[in-house]
Amino acid sequence: MADLDSIVEAKDYGVGRPQTVPASPIKGSDQLDFGMRHRLGRIFQHDGRTVMLAFDHGYFQGPTRGLERIDLNVVPLAPWADALMATRGIFRTVVPAESPNALVLRASGGPSILKELSDERVAMDISDAVRIDAAAVAVQVFIGSEHETQSVHNMTQLVDAGLAVGVPVVGVTAVGRDLVRDARYLGLATRIIAELGAQVVKTYYCDEGFEQVTAACPVPVIMAGGKKLPVLEALTMAFNAVDQGASGVDMGRNIFQRKDPIAMIQAVRSVVHDHAKPQEAADLYAELSGGATD
Ligand code: R5P
Repeated sequence: MADLDSIVEAKDYGVGRPQTVPASPIKGSDQLDFGMRHRLGRIFQHDGRTVMLAFDHGYFQGPTRGLERIDLNVVPLAPWADALMATRGIFRTVVPAESPNALVLRASGGPSILKELSDERVAMDISDAVRIDAAAVAVQVFIGSEHETQSVHNMTQLVDAGLAVGVPVVGVTAVGRDLVRDARYLGLATRIIAELGAQVVKTYYCDEGFEQVTAACPVPVIMAGGKKLPVLEALTMAFNAVDQGASGVDMGRNIFQRKDPIAMIQAVRSVVHDHAKPQEAADLYAELSGGATD
């Protein structure tokens, strides 16, 4: 029987105070549905930023250096990541289901590095993203490449499926070999991706005009890491990106290919969430790694 003892009269109705919900710190998300906002809120922290750890490379590259054994080399980094980006094969086999991280699920695939990479298709059903409890799905969009239209269609298909079940889409600007990663190209690609419905865009940093790229994109832009750079350069790039409007980073090789990946992800985190300057973050890496320079 319900405990009916000590029931006190309700009286704090806040009469005269309008009911409010705080505005979201996530760009462009205030008019989304609840489930989608809840999922985005798992990726982006209260400061509106995220540290996403990307290790989905195997879906077209096989066992890249640093990802030979994800259970040994990458799972230990999870406590310092807000979100983990991987394939369903890796989530189901080596990422502990108890991990509190937001999961960003790779949803496109097809060609390997031996073929034309832009020829991707949607590679999973949205119902599997729901089963996995993904906070978002990720899809490559190859603006300017051979299969541009197909890749845009992959994304819009996922956006429709995601809207039906409350799963956001991360549209990834995949830059073909012959294309230049400048503000003109990245501005074009990010804007197309957002206009066609992605709730988040992932793109590369460019030295000139990145601020305009983020300003013209109506949803959060996350900086992609790219190939491994010297420590200070990688941290400077992350710093510049968030300083110029990015809502965080999605870095892979610049973290997991380091001599001390756990130290590096903490250094990246200090830049994204604690506003550390690049040299401060590099010093933190050196301190935590016991003097590593690589
Ligand atoms: C590539 O398409 C994948 O989405 C990777 O997750 C992405 O490139 C980020 O990894 P990295 O920082 O190593 O470039």
